[in-house]
Amino acid sequence: MAYVWSKALETGHAAIDTQHKQLVETVNNLLDACSKGKGRDEIKKVMGFLLQYTVKHFADEERLQQSSGYPDYLNHKKIHTEFTQTAKNLAAELEEKGPSIVMVGKINKVLGDWLIQHIQKEDMKIAKYIQEKSK
Ligand SMILES: [Fe+2]
Repeated sequence: MAYVWSKALETGHAAIDTQHKQLVETVNNLLDACSKGKGRDEIKKVMGFLLQYTVKHFADEERLQQSSGYPDYLNHKKIHTEFTQTAKNLAAELEEKGPSIVMVGKINKVLGDWLIQHIQKEDMKIAKYIQEKSK
């Protein structure tokens, strides 16, 4: 099932929100590629982009946390590192086994749901901190 972007996912920090939208869209593209039986090459391409973009986004977000003096930076960075590993493992599994209903379920749970929850729980805190600080 595709994820729908909504106001509830907006942190209010323009750069973060733009990247989050791109991430959600890429997860949707991956789900689409897997559930519509696109070729393995296409799936690998989308998954590769997702991994690469995730690394870039996390690095940008971490830089922002550091430059603003965000107090929970180390914990947030740890969460990012763990997720990156999980996503890499899933990419390897997907490449090995190919698309299936089970894999689509895993993409939903491990990548999509995680991303939505992370945005709503953790990333909102960063944006709020930066906003408060600039008042
Ligand atoms: Fe984050």
